[in-house]
Amino acid sequence: MISRITIDQVFETARVEEVIGDFIVLKKSGSNFKGLSPFSQERTPSFMVSPVKQIWKDFSSGKGGNVVAFLMEHEHFSYPEAIRFLAKRYNIDIEEKEQTKEEKEKANTIESLNLVNQYAQESFEKDLWENSEGIALGLSYFRERGFKNETIRFFGLGYAVEKKDHFYQKAVKANYLIEYLVKTGLVINNERGPVDRFRGRIVFPIRSMAGRVLGFGGRILSKTSKTAKYLNSPESEVYHKSRVLYGIYESKKAIAKEDVCYLVEGYTDVIQLFQNGIKNVVSSSGTALTTEQIRLIRRLTSNIVVLFDGDAAGLQAAIRGVDLILEQGMNVKICSFPEGEDPDSFAISHSQEEINSYLKNEAKDFIEFKTDILLKEAKQDTVKKASTIREIVQSISKIPDPIQQEIYIKQCAVAMEISEAVLFNSLAQEQNKKQKAVRNISNTFSEKDTLIQKMPQQEITVNPLFYLEKQIISILIQYGNHEASFDELIISSDKDGNLIEESKIIHSKVHEKVFLDLQQDEVEFIHPEFRSLYDKLIQSYQLEGELRLEKISQQEESNLGVIISDILLGNEQHQLHDWEKKNIFVKDRQNSVGQLVSETILTFRRHLIDEKIKSLLEESKSRDNLDGPSEFLEDVMQYQNLKKLLSKKLNRVI
Ligand code: CTP
Ligand code: MN
Repeated sequence: MISRITIDQVFETARVEEVIGDFIVLKKSGSNFKGLSPFSQERTPSFMVSPVKQIWKDFSSGKGGNVVAFLMEHEHFSYPEAIRFLAKRYNIDIEEKEQTKEEKEKANTIESLNLVNQYAQESFEKDLWENSEGIALGLSYFRERGFKNETIRFFGLGYAVEKKDHFYQKAVKANYLIEYLVKTGLVINNERGPVDRFRGRIVFPIRSMAGRVLGFGGRILSKTSKTAKYLNSPESEVYHKSRVLYGIYESKKAIAKEDVCYLVEGYTDVIQLFQNGIKNVVSSSGTALTTEQIRLIRRLTSNIVVLFDGDAAGLQAAIRGVDLILEQGMNVKICSFPEGEDPDSFAISHSQEEINSYLKNEAKDFIEFKTDILLKEAKQDTVKKASTIREIVQSISKIPDPIQQEIYIKQCAVAMEISEAVLFNSLAQEQNKKQKAVRNISNTFSEKDTLIQKMPQQEITVNPLFYLEKQIISILIQYGNHEASFDELIISSDKDGNLIEESKIIHSKVHEKVFLDLQQDEVEFIHPEFRSLYDKLIQSYQLEGELRLEKISQQEESNLGVIISDILLGNEQHQLHDWEKKNIFVKDRQNSVGQLVSETILTFRRHLIDEKIKSLLEESKSRDNLDGPSEFLEDVMQYQNLKKLLSKKLNRVI
């Protein structure tokens, strides 16, 4: 865990205008900097950075905060990743804190494995460009496949020399310990001594979302070789196959920007599509797709299109992935390629427009896709038809959102020529089965559901800010680590300057959402106990990955313990609106938590903005305005706009 001292030092050193300036063009404007919002399409700059206050504010999306919040929003870093990124940018040594001996050893091992992998990547890359064997075999192979130099560089591709311990010898000379070379799997230590795992292969470094090299895939060059076509790094303390996606680091910006992610099978498919302008693409690298991999994508978009080779194996893999994606509340489409083609070969032989229009026209949602297969396979086979319908309903039952389910049921009824009633019936059966299974495992979830639904309306007699702050604390304590879906309103302008409103479902952990949303208004909690508790809760989630409540309540500030037990045991109500009276029945826990969080935070932020406008007006009365009246007015107006935006969002949520 990163020590408090390091974090403080990072915040003292990092300059928000410098860090943001690395990503967007900023122009001086009075005492501030201005630029075009990276979060929406706009033509007149409304993105402001204040070097004096060390904050930024994007008036077109409502986002804002300190330098860490910017990296979390823009680069999709987690909090610790953002701190580490800044430490590196400013050459600050990271001190890890208060770890037990085992934790320290583990952190040291991981750090060492990371360093070894980093070194290996650089070494393979160097050998590709500078070693005569690398140039003759590796580089020429890439060229043959149509990879351009800049693409090869961008993906950090390399070459592993044939000689049995070429890498091992180099690494030892550079003072890397054999222990770590073996643990990363780069070197295999057998009876005959250390041998390189990757020999005579081109290598693809596999990176984490934050860009750290975790492992490698190595491909043979000749078609005739008897060994496996690909050799991959083994599982290690840093490389978990099920948790990585090839290309996620290289493509994350494009995925967020295009709001869709293409999922392919192989390394070369990613690279070839990327080079041909389809940059929002990742690969599960030949393994069956996992929930963890889908969640990685979900940090960037809720839309996935699965692309698969035009053969039977590819088809099976694609079908298996679909239900998993639906379960995560994401939208999924499937796109197949003509027999004998894969995304790689297709990308080489077509122009960017052709690829784009192919993806657009051929991507089908899963119902269309399954009905198509059926119609091809057995038009008259009623038994087969029944089983396909059942399969489709099963897929639909995986979708968390009931409205979405209904839409699909209707669509399925038309496509399969069967009545909606029958389908709804079978969906209900499917859900019954599932609920029974869940009830058997545990009933803690349903208790929490009733907590949200059944609480009686409580009169708000206290200051609304007090009440809202307390509610945020309570949400953090109870739901901080839950995954929830949030309905975000995104406003941008089209070519003619008309405003377009778009709704986008974002999935994230509740604590991350609360943290980023509250960063946006430059104001801290007004009540000191809540502020202190809030900081501690956020820190616990963000740095330790979980809530250590006992640790917090045992701290010197004894009244924190009182507040915590008050919230846990007391009869706090966790809603602002009377759901039942409004006839809103919250069926799905994930959605209801998301809604509760959005509603609370938006209401809180609206109050804060009111205060902000009030204090701006007051300030202008009490002193000679140094920035000049126009700039002051602009400030007030932008906050007014922000308030409108928040009200709009709030109206949609409730
Ligand atoms: N794969 C693997 N081990 C193998 C074969 C395949 O790990 N023995 C993984 C690799 O991640 C590969 C993916 O499965 O990228 C897809 O396999 P394939 O389509 O055979 O590989 P491509 O990357 O398309 O390779 P190429 O086009 O160079 O044949
Ligand atoms: Mn291929």
